[in-house]
Amino acid sequence: MTDEEQQTHPTISKTEIPDSENTPLSLTFRLEEPKDYREVEELTREAFWNGFQPGANEHYILHKLRQHPDYLPDLSFLAISHEVCPDTGEVKEVIVGSIAYSKSKVIPLTEDRETLETVTFGPISVHPSYKRRGVGTAMMQHTANIAKEKGYPAIVIYGDPNYYSRVGFRLGEGFDMRNPKNKYAVALQVMILQNDLPLQRLSGRYKESPAFDEFDQVEFEAFDASFPEKVKKSGLATQARFQFLISLVYPPIKAFHWVK
Ligand SMILES: CC(C)(COP(=O)(O)OP(=O)(O)OC[C@H]1O[C@@H](n2cnc3c(N)ncnc32)[C@H](O)[C@@H]1OP(=O)(O)O)[C@@H](O)C(=O)NCCC(=O)NCCS
Repeated sequence: MTDEEQQTHPTISKTEIPDSENTPLSLTFRLEEPKDYREVEELTREAFWNGFQPGANEHYILHKLRQHPDYLPDLSFLAISHEVCPDTGEVKEVIVGSIAYSKSKVIPLTEDRETLETVTFGPISVHPSYKRRGVGTAMMQHTANIAKEKGYPAIVIYGDPNYYSRVGFRLGEGFDMRNPKNKYAVALQVMILQNDLPLQRLSGRYKESPAFDEFDQVEFEAFDASFPEKVKKSGLATQARFQFLISLVYPPIKAFHWVK
């Protein structure tokens, strides 16, 4: 594909991101296809391994999500690194990242307003060898632009505000957005995609797809056993950070006042 075609093709774009050694990392994005599923599940497992808990289950969550009607394959992209073999000059394509989207909603607190149909990404994964080279940021920017073009009003996620605030996410609390149990949650964040979205429409209870509730422990263990064995570790700082973040949940203490 020529550079010109890449610029006009709706599902692929090219970006150059400097890596830690100042060598340009040549990235393109393309939609995930069924032939990629297993490789992407392996990548997801590697990316999350021991990050939030001993081991990981996000590769199973992704596997289940793809089978659910709320999954959005037209927003679920892969980041591909194009690498030149120094000996042969041959260009190799390596899948280095994945971002999966699904439908979500914000249910208003009063019956006189309509539910806001939003989108959510997750799992988002970058292969450990390619982390901190801008791949995650580039995947979010690429897919947010496409979600905006498709007319979605906002992306809503749970994640670490330290990371997501850098790419334009803001705390849900600032818009009176609550979790399904009607509490504010520090991890709950929103990226507004449409300038004309009345902000009051973000006020309400965020509900991710029921696909995320369909976790079957027995099925998960059998699925995970089909991947290579890896050592599980506990007591890691990233796991403690995760527990801390998900504990930051508190009830709204007064009626929310919109600034005019
Ligand atoms: C999160 C993830 C997708 C980010 O991708 P990436 O390509 O490494 O991110 P970028 O290069 O665009 O940005 C890197 C910056 O974000 C920070 N960062 C990355 N993950 C973070 C996290 N979970 N919390 C806080 N900061 C984070 C890094 O410290 C780095 O900042 P620094 O350079 O100042 O140290 C990747 O690290 C990953 O796959 N992690 C494991 C899976 C995961 O945690 N997914 C998100 C679940 S909410």
